[in-house]
Amino acid sequence: MEKIILTGDRPTGRLHVGHYVGSLRRRVQLQNSGEFDKIFIMIADAQALTDNFENPEKVRQNIIEVALDYLSVGLDPAKSTLFIQSQIPELTELTFFYSNLVTVSRLQRNPTVKTEIKMRNFETSIPVGFFTYPISQAADITAFKATCVPVGEDQLPMIEQTREIVRKFNSIYDEVLVEPDVLLPENAACCRLPGIDGKAKMSKSLGNCIYLSDTEKDVKTKVMSMYTDPTHIQITDPGHVEGNCVFTYLDAFSNDGHFAEYLPEYANLQELKDHYTRGGLGDVKIKKFLNNVLQEELAPIRARRAEFEKDIPMVYDILKQGSENARAVAAQTMDEVKRAMRINYFEDAELIRAQAEKYSRAED
Ligand code: TRP
Repeated sequence: MEKIILTGDRPTGRLHVGHYVGSLRRRVQLQNSGEFDKIFIMIADAQALTDNFENPEKVRQNIIEVALDYLSVGLDPAKSTLFIQSQIPELTELTFFYSNLVTVSRLQRNPTVKTEIKMRNFETSIPVGFFTYPISQAADITAFKATCVPVGEDQLPMIEQTREIVRKFNSIYDEVLVEPDVLLPENAACCRLPGIDGKAKMSKSLGNCIYLSDTEKDVKTKVMSMYTDPTHIQITDPGHVEGNCVFTYLDAFSNDGHFAEYLPEYANLQELKDHYTRGGLGDVKIKKFLNNVLQEELAPIRARRAEFEKDIPMVYDILKQGSENARAVAAQTMDEVKRAMRINYFEDAELIRAQAEKYSRAED
């Protein structure tokens, strides 16, 4: 069986380092590993509209931001198909047919949907489109017969729901759809990178993000203002590494090579953590180290972004070409789905012949 990746992001803002360690970095590695036959990366504008329906302009403006972020981290249109969800009408068509296979109570039990309904104060008036977006996400994944979906932890319930839809479809109609596997980030820090204020998660509305497109100076200012350990007042005080943003970021970003280069008095992160816990290590020192690590990772991303920003029409062309290629693949699956559901009437010569026979007999 072919190994196929599909994943994507809602275009509601610029992507930040939480997206990077949570998914983007891995996508680029997978892309360059040569282990996959096809890779589809989708800008999920239709899904973004399910909770931004009053603000289509926001979605429209952010498509290019996300595309620039994709290209600047190293997603390569020669290896990965970058496309826009709304340009693939087959996804909507599949969503409609899959809706028959999912109950309202099953959607209500989806933990991600539950949390998001609360977050958006939708309790009293949930838009149907929003409520059913897990079905549309199943369409996104299955249209490309994805075997591997690299996403953050919060998307697990979506993949589980997709697998259920696949099993149900295949058992009722025919073995057409493929059950995807999820690929989660490499460690807990990567799963849930906190904002620079130490709050649970990086989020645009909290203003606690480090963006991939931030300048070198912005990144430094943000790192130097990071939340650390409020009980670590004097350098000599023992410190805590759990819940300390700087260490969480180091968990997500640093490797032994960084120590050799920027902080050779420690062999690795564990030694640094031990010293901090014992006391005698100041916040400024660990922040400067983190800044070096982040700048090393972000500098090439920033440089590539600057190049792509010089030719925005070309970026739209990449998305257009990608969308055309993606559509051809989704259309192929759509044909198979219709055949399995036996709603391919006009290409079903046997159906037409049998009906003709039935009515000619009726005349006798
Ligand atoms: N729900 C994802 C997010 O919020 C975006 C998305 C839409 C997606 N369709 C997908 C991710 C299919 C993986 C597979 O970021």
